Amino acid sequence: MDISQVGVVGCGLMGSGIVEACARAGYQVVVREVSDEFLQKGLARIRKSLATAVARGKAGQEQADQALARIRGTLSLADFADCDLVVEAAVENMDLKKEIFAELDGVLLAHAILASNTSSLCITAMASVTRRGDKVLGIHFFNPVPVMPLIEFVRTILTSDETMQIAHQFGASLGKTMVTAKDTPGFIVNRLLIPYVLDAVRAYDEGLATREDIDTAIKLGLNHPMGPLTLLDFVGLETCLFIADAMFEEYKDSRYAAPPLLRRMVLAGHLGRKSGKGFYNYG
Ligand code: 3HC
Repeated sequence: MDISQVGVVGCGLMGSGIVEACARAGYQVVVREVSDEFLQKGLARIRKSLATAVARGKAGQEQADQALARIRGTLSLADFADCDLVVEAAVENMDLKKEIFAELDGVLLAHAILASNTSSLCITAMASVTRRGDKVLGIHFFNPVPVMPLIEFVRTILTSDETMQIAHQFGASLGKTMVTAKDTPGFIVNRLLIPYVLDAVRAYDEGLATREDIDTAIKLGLNHPMGPLTLLDFVGLETCLFIADAMFEEYKDSRYAAPPLLRRMVLAGHLGRKSGKGFYNYG
């Protein structure tokens, strides 16, 4: 099966990055948001990222213009009828995701593949509300999507070999390296990342070292691009808390238990870069 049109549900941080990566790879992309305000914000983020790509010499101006011309925004999932593959990147709420999957199952043609970019929720549960369980999988991208080279595929016990093969062709066309995980909370990356960043919050809260020293130790001692507290601010504290809670709910393992400080920072609205304040201040 050839994929020519891709649908993306949600044009937030991850959704807009997925739209950009697909449009740059030559796909026609339709993206749905819940309001015109969110849609315009997401499209502006894509324009800004494409301008950065041009400024950094990662794309020519003509390529960037062509990519933008391939993107169509909508407020209705009915406009996904011609999509060959849809990636859902809506907020991390299982009831909402099930609603989206059920609606798309009715809108899409029989051959179309339905994927979720969820970072921790159960793909099998999303597949269960459709009549195309063999065509459902997780396609987990990393932030910032146009820069990060990895895609994590999540294969359920229902996903067919053919779907995995098409997903691999799709990932390769985006220029990504791909890994495959079973449908378990956190998959590969978050299974290992979440206990690590939670431990960093505990260490900071216990006064092991300053936030700067914790980050510098990991950045220079392990050659990571960012220390764990900077990374938490980058990903969003509420996103990490959500993933930790989802993993704890399923595993009941103290490694995934969110430290009280993280929960209180989220309650206080200290979400990281997006709110202007997290472990650090962002003007
Ligand atoms: N389009 C294309 N390329 C771009 C670009 C864009 N919009 N913006 C930047 N780039 C390129 C730059 O040209 C540069 O390329 P080069 O290395 O060939 O010169 C490269 O991307 C890095 O860009 P910068 O120099 O601006 O930035 P830094 O070197 O400071 O890196 C970073 C920024 C890539 C964010 C780096 O700090 C990093 O890798 N941080 C960790 C990010 C991470 O861990 N992400 C995963 C989070 S977990 C997740 O997403 C999963 C979820 O489930 C929680």
